[in-house]
Amino acid sequence: MRHAPLRWVVRPDESREREVGVDPDQDRPRTALVAGGTGALGGAVVELLLEAGERVCVPWVDSAEADRLRDTHAAAEREGVLRLSECDAANPDQLAALLDVLRADWGPLWLGCSLAGGWAGGAAVGDLDDVALLDRMLRVNLRTALVVAREGLRHMGSAGGRLVFVGSRAVERPAAGQAAYTAAKAGVLSLVATLAVELRGSGRTANAVVPKVIDTPANRRAMPDARHDRWVPPRAIAKVIAWLAGPDAWLVSGAAIPVHGDS
Ligand SMILES: NC(=O)c1ccc[n+]([C@@H]2O[C@H](COP(=O)([O-])OP(=O)(O)OC[C@H]3O[C@@H](n4cnc5c(N)ncnc54)[C@H](OP(=O)(O)O)[C@@H]3O)[C@@H](O)[C@H]2O)c1
Repeated sequence: MRHAPLRWVVRPDESREREVGVDPDQDRPRTALVAGGTGALGGAVVELLLEAGERVCVPWVDSAEADRLRDTHAAAEREGVLRLSECDAANPDQLAALLDVLRADWGPLWLGCSLAGGWAGGAAVGDLDDVALLDRMLRVNLRTALVVAREGLRHMGSAGGRLVFVGSRAVERPAAGQAAYTAAKAGVLSLVATLAVELRGSGRTANAVVPKVIDTPANRRAMPDARHDRWVPPRAIAKVIAWLAGPDAWLVSGAAIPVHGDS
């Protein structure tokens, strides 16, 4: 097999970072979009990004969820570093309009992250009542990711950028009764792999985290008798996402990083 010649030697120094388009001197705050930031994992990511000094915008579709996030971060919203905007992240026109405003107010996008998603299942494929379940799963899990990727890339600047998404352990280890969900999450991982190829050499990266069961209030309600101590807290996963979203992660692209701890 013929190997392509090495074009550079990896050195974690500033010249390499400049070569790949990451500006290590770029001052915070960076502009971050977190679709699904109203949810359990998304809320933890929003919190960490704000703690890191970034500017964060969360598109929302459910006003009650937006209000909850707003109440948690009232000071950040007052200071203008958190913006909550009614916007369906699966709708490219709505998201493009939101990112146009963000770019004008905050500068180019650095992070496009979609943690929007949803689960539905319970029936084996042969017993499915309504195949429209597949359309719903694709829309909430995959279309959101693709729209955030497309519009995010169109709104990034020359300093580079990051795309981060979320898959599911079920892709690697499928369980019965959730074919539509698992197929949609497989699509997200495939999207990330393609993006990594398309973004090579651009200073922009695309990655996914791959949870199993996250320790969320919804999961505790749904599975009251499970071993909750084995589940991974949202903030632990958010730390991995925050690292992928930072300049130090310039060398990681196309990864599907398992974040299921001991579970
Ligand atoms: N929880 C787990 O155990 C687990 C395991 C593996 C993978 N995951 C994945 O990890 C991600 C986060 O999980 P989570 O438990 O934090 O979910 P979650 O609490 O349901 O959060 C998802 C959020 O995304 C929002 N959203 C959905 N569609 C949207 C859209 N079109 N535009 C804007 N926002 C939208 C939801 O709003 P609405 O509620 O109003 O729809 C919700 O606030 C999901 O993609 C999930 O599939 C979760």
